[in-house]
Amino acid sequence: MARVALVTGGSRGIGEAISKALKAEGYEVAATYAGNDEKAAAFTEATGIKTYKWNVGDYEASKAGIAKIEEEIGPIDIVVANAGITRDAPFHKMTPEQWQEVIDTNLTGVFNTVHPVWPGMRERGFGRIIVISSINGQKGQFGQVNYAATKAGDLGIVKSLAQEGAAKGITANAICPGYIATEMVMAVPEKVRESIIKNIPAGRLGEPEEIARCVVFLASEDSQFINGSTISANGGQFFV
Ligand code: CAA
Repeated sequence: MARVALVTGGSRGIGEAISKALKAEGYEVAATYAGNDEKAAAFTEATGIKTYKWNVGDYEASKAGIAKIEEEIGPIDIVVANAGITRDAPFHKMTPEQWQEVIDTNLTGVFNTVHPVWPGMRERGFGRIIVISSINGQKGQFGQVNYAATKAGDLGIVKSLAQEGAAKGITANAICPGYIATEMVMAVPEKVRESIIKNIPAGRLGEPEEIARCVVFLASEDSQFINGSTISANGGQFFV
């Protein structure tokens, strides 16, 4: 039977590419989205991948949504915690609301997505947790105190889960994309974006599919011994 993969924020941007790539590899894929019904419907129509709507920042909603997927499709073997938002502002202008929204989605959202599937993975002796962090969690970023804090925190989650899951056949790894050609990056003011691209040795933004290929590898049986690691895919912009 095909393994089941859950991709949060899986109908747009990097998540869309991940959902499609996993489906192409033969996984049963469920994609979540937070708000854009129209885009989600178009995505399902085009790909045949079912979508489920909930706010990853809400634990009870995540738990209920995951229970529904497991009932309709089957036990979740692979979690790709991809849903993320930005609320960029220099620190002196950042509001507590901008801080909290990003924490709720990008950091607590990972807890809320992994926690409900973890007991089942432990029982079955197999699991893949793949968290989409960011280059800005590694290096920090002007205007992103909130976002960088969550993406660095995501790396702490992964490194800890890796140690807790290893004996049960569960791996947890992170991918740190650099600047990828998605709506999120296109929302950065054009002048700022141009100066960012100048600092990418590859001379271009990444493509969502380049991140999806990393996910496909980490989801596979072959990646069992890779645990707690971070794959950087950023065109040479930053090394750890
Ligand atoms: N480094 C140093 N100084 C900077 C700067 C930078 N990167 N960006 C702006 N500044 C300076 C400006 O030059 C300006 O200086 P002066 O007042 O002396 O002229 C000052 O900061 C304030 O600038 P603004 O008035 O433009 O500030 P703002 O309130 O309009 O907001 C910002 C600025 C929101 C931070 C904007 O610069 C921005 O959006 N930056 C991009 C942040 C970014 O990279 N976000 C990534 C989004 S994509 C993503 O997150 C995906 C991923 O994982 C990679």
